[in-house]
Amino acid sequence: MPPYAFFQKQFMPLHEAKIGILTHALHYGTACFEGIRGNWDNEKERFCLFRLSDHYRRLLDGCRLLKINLPYSAEEMCQLTLELLAKSNYREDVYIRPLAYKSSETIGVRLHDLEDALLIVVTTLPPYLGNSTIRCCTSSWRRIDDTMIPARGKISGAYVNSALAKTEAHENGCDEAILLSQDGHVAEGSAENIFIVSKEKLITPASPDNVLMGITRDSVMTVARNEMGLASIERRLDRSELYLAEECFLTGTGARIAPIVEIDHRSIGTGGIGPITSTLQRSLLEIELGRNPHYSSWYTFLP
Ligand SMILES: Cc1ncc(COP(=O)(O)O)c(C=O)c1O
Repeated sequence: MPPYAFFQKQFMPLHEAKIGILTHALHYGTACFEGIRGNWDNEKERFCLFRLSDHYRRLLDGCRLLKINLPYSAEEMCQLTLELLAKSNYREDVYIRPLAYKSSETIGVRLHDLEDALLIVVTTLPPYLGNSTIRCCTSSWRRIDDTMIPARGKISGAYVNSALAKTEAHENGCDEAILLSQDGHVAEGSAENIFIVSKEKLITPASPDNVLMGITRDSVMTVARNEMGLASIERRLDRSELYLAEECFLTGTGARIAPIVEIDHRSIGTGGIGPITSTLQRSLLEIELGRNPHYSSWYTFLP
């Protein structure tokens, strides 16, 4: 079976799903998207789609920000996703990418008087930041501010900011960039939230520092509290606090929990994966596979 896409209100083989070269979103970034994991459980021979409806609720928030009107509710998009995944016949971990976009084929930068559309594709995803530990650099690019592009949505055009930072980090020999906010506080990675461990607590930048409200970020805070009795504090975080942290890690749907062992050529903590990070990694992996009944509201199984 070829991979399928949901495109123009129907399911079709991925290679048949094509957009016109004048599509508004292609030129102006007028789209928002999600990244959702479908975790294949080899033992149970089923997928666990992790926090599926939360992802679609965030997509609909992005649509509101961009004045995109979709003819689907979050529940309907969950159903479309399940149908698409069932058709696509994968038996390995998958990554689901819905994109809501301004689909008119026309020139002229704006949000109004344009048609809107939804597409969904399913693909495989190699480990996003590798499987082990990562080295980061503080970016010379600053995280977009909410006064420029809303930071609370996964808005396609805003990812130029992430791409600039990621490539700069790569060219400087690092795995990932850490972006600061306009006024110099820690915001997040190019496609991940950031946490430090300090004095038996997790600390992560708060929403006003223009962080995307990550679903993995929320899962980590919940799991840390429930499974380890660890409190999380959402507050302003300074760059030098990263350097002095006992442990530091990135979180994201793609990256899962990525332990940071070096930032700006300084080793973090002991220079290896810290004990809290590795416990969280183990717990979250188990939970993402749908194996912990305490989190059943986060799971959508297929079949
Ligand atoms: C800019 C940005 N920050 C943070 C995240 C992490 O969000 P989530 O955990 O919902 O994938 C992502 C990935 O979606 C992202 O693109």
